[in-house]
Amino acid sequence: QVLMDRSLEAVADYIKSGQVKRICVMTGAGISTAAGIPDFRSPGTGLYANLKRLNLPHAEAVFDISYFRNNPDPFYVLAQELYPGKFYPTISHAFIALLARKGLLDMLFTQNIDCLERRAGVPADRIVEAHGSFATQRCIDCKVEFPEDKMLEHIQASRVPRCEDRECRGLVKPDIVFFGEPLPRDFSAKSPRASMADLTLILGTSLTVFPFASLPELVTRGKPRVLFNMERVGSLGSRPDDVLALGQCDEGVRKLAKALGWDEELDTLWRN
Ligand code: OAD
Repeated sequence: QVLMDRSLEAVADYIKSGQVKRICVMTGAGISTAAGIPDFRSPGTGLYANLKRLNLPHAEAVFDISYFRNNPDPFYVLAQELYPGKFYPTISHAFIALLARKGLLDMLFTQNIDCLERRAGVPADRIVEAHGSFATQRCIDCKVEFPEDKMLEHIQASRVPRCEDRECRGLVKPDIVFFGEPLPRDFSAKSPRASMADLTLILGTSLTVFPFASLPELVTRGKPRVLFNMERVGSLGSRPDDVLALGQCDEGVRKLAKALGWDEELDTLWRN
C-alpha cells in the first residue's frame, strides 16, 4: 500500500514523494456542471430528466444514431444549448491543466463533448475525447466534413444542417459519439495507459456508459484511484488504496491542491 490512509492529504504526500510520474485522469459531465452545463443523469437537473418537451421515446434517444437518422430535430434543439463557446472551464478543468504543466499528466480520458479541457489549457496530445466533441462535424452518409461557420449558423437557428453535396444531402452531425456508434480509435489505442498510471483521478462521472466505465478497472492493483464525485460510483471504494472525495469535485480538487501547496497556482491558472 502506498498511501498512509484514504485521505486527500495522503494522496498529496504520495505525489510529493516523487513516486508519482504518471497520472491518469478520467472525467464526465460532473466536472462541467459548475460551468453551467447540465450533466445527463442527476435527478431533476440532468439533461435526461428535462427532455419531456422533445417527445422522445426514451431520453437517450436524443443521442442515438438510428433515432437521429429519422428524427434529427430534437438533437438540434439541444445542440443550441450545449454548443461550446459560451462556457468557461471550472477549477477541476484548471487542475488537470496544472497537472499537465507540472509534467505529471500522462493522459486525460474524457467523456465530455464541451471542449472545456482544451480551453483550460490541457495539451491536445494528452486528451482522449472518448465520446468525440463538437470541434468538427460531417455528413453521416458520405462522411465529408461540413464547414464550422455554417454549422454555427445552423446551430444558432436550431436548423438541421445537410451535406453540401447535391447528390448526397445527408444529415450533418457533430463528431460526437452517439449510442450505436463506435468510439474513436484513440480510445482503444490509449486505454492501456490506464494500467501504467501511478495514480488515477476520476471526476464527475456516473460510470454508467461502457466501454468508458471499464477504464478504472484497468488500473493496476496497488496504484491508488481517487474519486471526486457527488456519489460513489462503479467499483470505486472497493480496493484498499481507493480514496473517496464525495461532494462537489471543485471542492475536493481545491482541497487536494491546498495539501500540495498548489492552491495559489491553481487559482491563477483558473482566472487567466
Ligand atoms: P452522468 O450525468 O451520467 O453522471 C454525472 C456524475 O457526476 C453523477 O454521478 C453526478 O452525481 C456527478 N456530479 C454532477 N455534478 C457534480 C459536481 N459538481 N461535483 C461532483 N460530481 C458531480 O454523466 P457522465 O458520466 O459523463 O454519452 O455520462 C456518461 C455518458 O452518458 C455521456 O458521455 C453521454 C451520456 O449519454 C453520450 O452521449 C454518448
